[in-house]
Amino acid sequence: MKKIVIQGLGYVGLAMLTFCAGAKKNNKYLYKVVGVEKKSPKGSKIIQTIKSKQTPQIVDDKKFLYFYKSLVNEHRIKVSLDLNEYANADVVFVCSNCDFNFSTSKVELRKYLNNIAQISKKIKNNCLLVIQSTLPPGTTEKVLKPLIAKNLKKREVKNFFLCHSFERITPGKDYYSSMKNVNRVIGGVNKKSTELTKKIFKSIFNLSSNKIISFKSPTESETCKIIENSYRATNIAFIEEWRKFCFKNNLDLEKILNTIRQRKTHNNIMRSGIGVGGYCLTKDPLFASAIKQVLGYNSKFPLSTNAVVINKKMTSNVMSEIENRFKKKIYCKKVLLIGVSYKEDTNDTRFSPAEKVYNFLKSRDCKLSFYDPIVNYWEYSKGFSVDKKNLKNYDIYIYLVRHQSFKNLYIKYKKGSIILDLNHVLNEKKKLKISRNKNYKSYFIGSRIA
Ligand SMILES: NC(=O)c1ccc[n+]([C@@H]2O[C@H](COP(=O)([O-])OP(=O)(O)OC[C@H]3O[C@@H](n4cnc5c(N)ncnc54)[C@H](O)[C@@H]3O)[C@@H](O)[C@H]2O)c1
Repeated sequence: MKKIVIQGLGYVGLAMLTFCAGAKKNNKYLYKVVGVEKKSPKGSKIIQTIKSKQTPQIVDDKKFLYFYKSLVNEHRIKVSLDLNEYANADVVFVCSNCDFNFSTSKVELRKYLNNIAQISKKIKNNCLLVIQSTLPPGTTEKVLKPLIAKNLKKREVKNFFLCHSFERITPGKDYYSSMKNVNRVIGGVNKKSTELTKKIFKSIFNLSSNKIISFKSPTESETCKIIENSYRATNIAFIEEWRKFCFKNNLDLEKILNTIRQRKTHNNIMRSGIGVGGYCLTKDPLFASAIKQVLGYNSKFPLSTNAVVINKKMTSNVMSEIENRFKKKIYCKKVLLIGVSYKEDTNDTRFSPAEKVYNFLKSRDCKLSFYDPIVNYWEYSKGFSVDKKNLKNYDIYIYLVRHQSFKNLYIKYKKGSIILDLNHVLNEKKKLKISRNKNYKSYFIGSRIA
């Protein structure tokens, strides 16, 4: 039985571990699979959680949970901190993180190269490495390939195969399907690497050939991912520019956007919002300008870079506008944040705009609580969600996330309270009811102020 090792057991790695462990042919499991984490407090905690058969906190999709638990019951989920696991691997999926350092404006390439070195100092001849981490274009071919070759040569290991295959998994309720049903994109350093990766993806995900796109090189796969996320970040930033203009001039941006959407070519124009969060959109567009670190020459991407800058300011822009509008009415108040994850229907709170809203109001001496039926414990505030029964008696209610369950959430707002919908959570009927009620003050993002 071939052995697969997964490096890194975060959102991407845990899903890869599970799908590889569950891959079957003729009712028989195909691979021996082990997930390896970093020897760090975080990595040790992940290993301990999985080994003690608790569900990792990142899993909040019922379909995935069912699949994962069935494999736990069959003792298929194996994890370790031991680097020797790489030694007899036939395939290694690299799902560790390559971060962007916002203070130095550089990609943390050295740390990432250390992850690759750990693998290449151990693997046997003819091992296949599939890099799923998001990387600056050129990294796999120009940096990882020579590094792996050098480490193998020292140990007189002759050959290896290498591909980049970017990941599109989305945390939250579609975690399972976003891993299982998407097209796989592969860029190998040579034909054989691409063919081997194609074969293994087919066996894990039951993919037909037309669901696998092969690129000529890993750089095309890396570039594809960066363009995909930069495109989204830029579209969001574009609307933020106009949102500010519309707010200043009291124009109904949402009505304007709905009118534009009537043109078929423009029907996916973005909505205004409170901010961009999550792990990917906040850093990936900056990987474009980090090309110098990899290819050695400057390549400027002003749109992608500016998009991140504009998006980063979005939350504080909105909060300052609210402060200007409501003046001292937002000071020292009892505030309820409704939803704190970075997007709807997930418990992922990484870089969530709710953090900035929290900070802004904390510095105005507000007493903050949050209600989020999915997050429950919020690492950032070190607090637990208030119970659904206790949503009354706040001075300010701020809707931040469009969780599905909020559609049917009815709150009896306190008389004299301020209700802010900063992410289009409330429907038109609810908004109208609130704005017509003289007992409340309100603000709905993208709408004209009455
Ligand atoms: N989360 C997403 O939705 C998503 C989607 C597409 C692509 N990606 C990309 O995939 C990669 C992983 O993302 P993620 O969200 O799973 O990140 P994550 O931070 O949740 O997980 C990465 C894990 O790798 C571990 N790790 C780091 N160095 C290691 C080492 N040397 N050995 C073993 N483990 C190590 C970390 O401890 C961490 O648990 C990133 O490059 C990310 O940009 C993420």
